[in-house]
Amino acid sequence: MSLQRTLILVKPDGVRRQLVGEVIRRIETKGYNISELKMIQPDRELLAKHYAEHEGKPFYEPLLEFMLSGKVVAIIAEGHRVIEGFRKLAGTTDPTVAEPGTIRGDLACDQGTKVVQNIVHGSDSPESAEREIAIWFN
Ligand code: RTP
Ligand code: MG
Repeated sequence: MSLQRTLILVKPDGVRRQLVGEVIRRIETKGYNISELKMIQPDRELLAKHYAEHEGKPFYEPLLEFMLSGKVVAIIAEGHRVIEGFRKLAGTTDPTVAEPGTIRGDLACDQGTKVVQNIVHGSDSPESAEREIAIWFN
């Protein structure tokens, strides 16, 4: 399989908790290459594009509010099967049940917030990755 790219975000909870280095360490020690990295305060317009698939869902507004609550680190990582590989490193969406050993399983738990806060985002397909990279890096 050819080289892939994926978009990874360290969400505001991860930045606030000073876990940027820990997330980067896990990406790099797994063997993936970081090709771009920046810290930004996203605005509503950018987040609405990024989360377009969730528009209308009950957690959509809380999700945007959470993602607007602080700075985000956006990363492009490269590697063979990096999309699948990073999703495995991140663990499942709900951090309470994410496997220990994963980013979400090791570093997050339910905070009783309206939307689940789970440290990282990772693209879920090659199409999503290219769409999201264009949104965050342009
Ligand atoms: P992500 O896109 O952030 O990598 O996470 P994911 O694929 O595991 O989850 P997805 O279904 O794409 O949802 C995006 C983010 O929305 C929040 N969410 N909350 N029922 C809920 O409370 C709920 N469902 C989703 C999470 O922050 C999730 O990461
Ligand atoms: Mg997703």
